[in-house]
Amino acid sequence: MTDVSSMGPQPDDHREVLTNRQGHAVYDNQNQRTVGARGPATLENYQFLEKISHFDRERIPERVVHARGATAYGYFEAYGKWGDEPVAPYTRARLFQRPGERTPVAVRFSTVIGGRDSAETARDPRGFAVKFYTEDGNWDLVGNNLAVFFIRDAIKFPDVIHALKPDPVTFRQEPNRIFDFMSQTPESMHMLVNLFSPRGIPADYRHMQGFGVNTYKWVNERGDTQLVKYHWMPRQGVRSMTASDAAALQANDLGHATKDLHEAIERGDFPEWELLVQMMSDDDHPELDFDPLDDTKVWPEERFPARPVGRMVLDRNVADNFAENEQISFGTGVLVDGLDFSDDKMLVGRTFSYSDTQRYRVGPNYLQLPVNQAKNAAVRTNQRDGQMVYSVDRAGENPHVNYEPSITGGLREAQYPTHDEQGPTISGRVTRRRIERTNDYVQAGQRYLMMHDWERDDLVHNLITMLSQCDRPIRERMVWHLLLAENDLGLRVGEGLGIAPDQVAGLKPLASQDLTDEDRARLANLG
Ligand code: HEM
Repeated sequence: MTDVSSMGPQPDDHREVLTNRQGHAVYDNQNQRTVGARGPATLENYQFLEKISHFDRERIPERVVHARGATAYGYFEAYGKWGDEPVAPYTRARLFQRPGERTPVAVRFSTVIGGRDSAETARDPRGFAVKFYTEDGNWDLVGNNLAVFFIRDAIKFPDVIHALKPDPVTFRQEPNRIFDFMSQTPESMHMLVNLFSPRGIPADYRHMQGFGVNTYKWVNERGDTQLVKYHWMPRQGVRSMTASDAAALQANDLGHATKDLHEAIERGDFPEWELLVQMMSDDDHPELDFDPLDDTKVWPEERFPARPVGRMVLDRNVADNFAENEQISFGTGVLVDGLDFSDDKMLVGRTFSYSDTQRYRVGPNYLQLPVNQAKNAAVRTNQRDGQMVYSVDRAGENPHVNYEPSITGGLREAQYPTHDEQGPTISGRVTRRRIERTNDYVQAGQRYLMMHDWERDDLVHNLITMLSQCDRPIRERMVWHLLLAENDLGLRVGEGLGIAPDQVAGLKPLASQDLTDEDRARLANLG
């Protein structure tokens, strides 16, 4: 018989004891149970089997996009106003009403294309997703650091992501695949001019802006709606990296942005952003040269000022990366009373996609996890069962009634806060048409002209670097688009690629695009 008195912790070791998930103390975490020291293992070894089989299931599918990210907690503090005006005439959302009222938040910053352990120095949009745990339930504002997106219809999302993700054969991100797609997608030009400028590589997560990108609505007590866009402005300032800054950093650190955020919060240097809102009346605005529901466009600030409504401070790190960063689940459908969707065709597609992927990625009861719960609101549903039920939602007075309607003590429907109708009347025939006023080039060109000289040089350099790795017809089509966006941009990129305007002047417009009169005039002058 073995003498156990010298094994395990010494009498003066007061640390807590390791157990298995059944609460059984673990006496030996170094050796399996075997028949003799050199003999075969035994199958009834519960402790070993539980440990290994749980390990075997440690990974869940990573997010199909935005796999790498970092989460932190804090609060949003309302100003009670939209700029200098009271906010109530525009939205009845309670979290915005009372000056100084704080709503707890969780924020996840991310990169889009790389996997869970990829480099945070990539040229890639950054995710900026905020979960507000309001007293009316959760509100998720799921945005990016760039104000526009590559496409305007959700049906194209799998394609744009496939083009940007690694090649299915070589598993490398390939410029030729990216620009094959983009060159056939003229609405991507505005995003590309942003992404290939220094803004495409934010210095870290604390020094970047956030944008809701899609158009949402605000709803007031009377059911009147306004179209709105959300913007987060960092109090720390905006900082970006050039490709060579990023390469130097990446040589030493794949996770610099997560580290920067974590360390800033640990040392009490809490990052802060102001939330600003642009607003326009809820109609199609025929006077504009773009459609307010088009997420490839920004709203000119001189006409639609971005006015502050509150500020957000992040002051606490997650306690566990998996439980709180990997499992946190945001969605554009997660809105509270007084906030609404618009008919932006990206937004409606996104709103299906998020909860759909989370039911697959995390599981059907993902909303029961602490990080996802509507912890400041009462949750009482008749939803039951499914994998990994953690708790049963509170029923009405009678726990036997998990259905509605009932006269035997079940839950009842709520009263509408005001009435059930809101917003303008919409009519139309079912169709698959593009929106009018696609106007794919004008804002891309304006963006280029707004840049400092060094930013333009960087953009031109980055585009030449990428496009020089692409097939000739792809390069030509990209130069054609860039010339239509802004002559100087097209000329400079073309020069770097050895393509003069007269070599692309004969290209026909794509079947998938509508040119404006101004575009046609530019096209006529290309040669
Ligand atoms: C994440 C779909 C466009 C921002 C995701 C995820 C999906 C998705 C499936 C993974 C969610 C998860 O596993 O929890 C889509 C679709 C889009 C679209 C179908 C277009 C139709 C956009 C746009 C933005 C955006 C335009 C920016 C405004 C984000 C962010 C995340 C994300 C920030 C990460 C959320 C997190 O940190 O967990 N998207 N997306 N997406 N998406 Fe989108």
